[in-house]
Amino acid sequence: MLRQGICCAVGPDSVKWGMEPDPLYPRLVLALETSCDETAGAVLEGGARLLSNVVASQIAVHREYGGIVPELASRHHIEAIAGVVDAALTEAGLCLDDIDGVAVTQGPGLVGSLVVGLSFAKAIAVSRGLPLAGVDHVQAHLTSVFLEQEVPGFPYVGMVVSGGHTSLHLVRDHLTQEFLGGTRDDAAGEAFDKVAKILGLDYPGGPEIGRRAPAGRAGAFAYPRARLPETPFDFSFSGVKTAVLTCVRDLPTEMEIPVADICASFQEAVVEVLVEKAVLAARRHGILDVVVCGGVAANRRLRTRMYERCRGSGLNVFFPAPALCTDNAAMVALAGYHRIRAGLLLPMDADVYSRTPSAAG
Ligand code: KG4
Ligand code: ZN
Repeated sequence: MLRQGICCAVGPDSVKWGMEPDPLYPRLVLALETSCDETAGAVLEGGARLLSNVVASQIAVHREYGGIVPELASRHHIEAIAGVVDAALTEAGLCLDDIDGVAVTQGPGLVGSLVVGLSFAKAIAVSRGLPLAGVDHVQAHLTSVFLEQEVPGFPYVGMVVSGGHTSLHLVRDHLTQEFLGGTRDDAAGEAFDKVAKILGLDYPGGPEIGRRAPAGRAGAFAYPRARLPETPFDFSFSGVKTAVLTCVRDLPTEMEIPVADICASFQEAVVEVLVEKAVLAARRHGILDVVVCGGVAANRRLRTRMYERCRGSGLNVFFPAPALCTDNAAMVALAGYHRIRAGLLLPMDADVYSRTPSAAG
């Protein structure tokens, strides 16, 4: 009954009154993202213009544990979410009455954290009679580049490299992505975080390693590159992480850990594999445009090597700005905008999911 009631209430006024549909509907989308350790809210106008993009990071909370503690993450989302939504609306100069649609990350991610965002989004949608879109976090990353000035053409090869995901996709349009392959063990960002922990660096490890690597020698240590020729679009980063662990353990006790050299050598091993696989995916599928997104896409060495390699291979590479690479609600707003336009609405009894079904295994 409830689901029917919500569905009746959605849609632009023009539909209700039999007028010409608004080509920009839904004009103003409010989005929420709580899949991991960032409580984020954003407002997007006309599927293109970002009016606000607010991120409340929990890094300080989890840093003391050297990684994300799921129970703490959900509790902090509960504390932060109302303020973040308020800030996103205020920054956009709007109030809830102005909003035409709500988008929220439905999965994959930490269940306890996702539930906070989804419940809050449902409450807004049901109380205001607004359409609600459930957005896949990986799809949102893949779409985030469309918030930039320079955008790829469809279809493009999209590589998501973050703390929770490392995968390659053939992106056919805003709603259709084909999974080409993904990591068999650690995500690239997870490997950065674990190696940083081995080296005694702060969480999150990616930016810490990225900052130290330029002072080191990339050839100092020969860490393994998992190319996986049988399934070339799959990844594996547990080997390189273990190699760093072994290397640090085997250092003479009196020797100081050569942190910069290890950072540079590890970063190079990861970057090389990412670049090779993205380029191979584009070549095999006859695609010219490659998009790299997710938190690790903020890595400078990855950006430089991707540009160099793609230029040399006649490919075009696109990166979202670093602030749109790490988790944010702007990308959720954009993905949600396209879902609402396509009439793909979330029923009020929808649950969250921890893993993307197509990427499982
Ligand atoms: O996309 P994201 O914010 O969250 C997930 O969806 O996982 O990605 C976070 C990950 C962390 O593992 C972090 O260490 C990594 O992205 N990261 C980086 C850099 N900035 C963030 N890794 C390498 N270099 C960076 N500059
Ligand atoms: Zn993410």
